Amino acid sequence: MIRDILRMGDPRLLETSKRVADPGAPEIRALVADMFDTMHAANGAGLAAPQIGVGLRVVIFGYRDANARNPRYPDADPVPETILINPELTAIGPEFEDGWEGCLSVPGLRGVVPRHARLRYRGVDLDGQLIEREVSGFHARVVQHECDHLDGILYPMRITDFTLFGYTDVMFPGLADADD
Ligand code: NI
Repeated sequence: MIRDILRMGDPRLLETSKRVADPGAPEIRALVADMFDTMHAANGAGLAAPQIGVGLRVVIFGYRDANARNPRYPDADPVPETILINPELTAIGPEFEDGWEGCLSVPGLRGVVPRHARLRYRGVDLDGQLIEREVSGFHARVVQHECDHLDGILYPMRITDFTLFGYTDVMFPGLADADD
């Protein structure tokens, strides 16, 4: 079921989400199904549970077709479809990279955000299976963006150069589906 996406200004986006006690519970499976329906309907690259008003540490991101590319991020590397429950992130090395980000909770805007260039992440899926990966580039960026939502952080809070923050249709007039 497609759910409403909360927008910046809603205090629920600023809360710290709770760990999931039982990743295999049917209500978590139903939550994740709703998150995919909602993300796909909005052409998103990822979604965190608090964005649909559920304060649990669950994020989804990526594409089932590894060669698919999001029309909103046409230059981004493909990212495998991933469900991550109770994620933990560990930066690898001191390097940060700047890159453009948008957010379904901040529609119509884009900004350049510095993120760790490489990181290790781990979490579990709906079967409680451990997922552990070392990633870089757009994959690393998406994970950091989504997991920030679990700590009440929206990407504009990470912007350091506000000359690189503005309306998508003004800055990227040719971009497909540029309404968020
Ligand atoms: Ni977001």
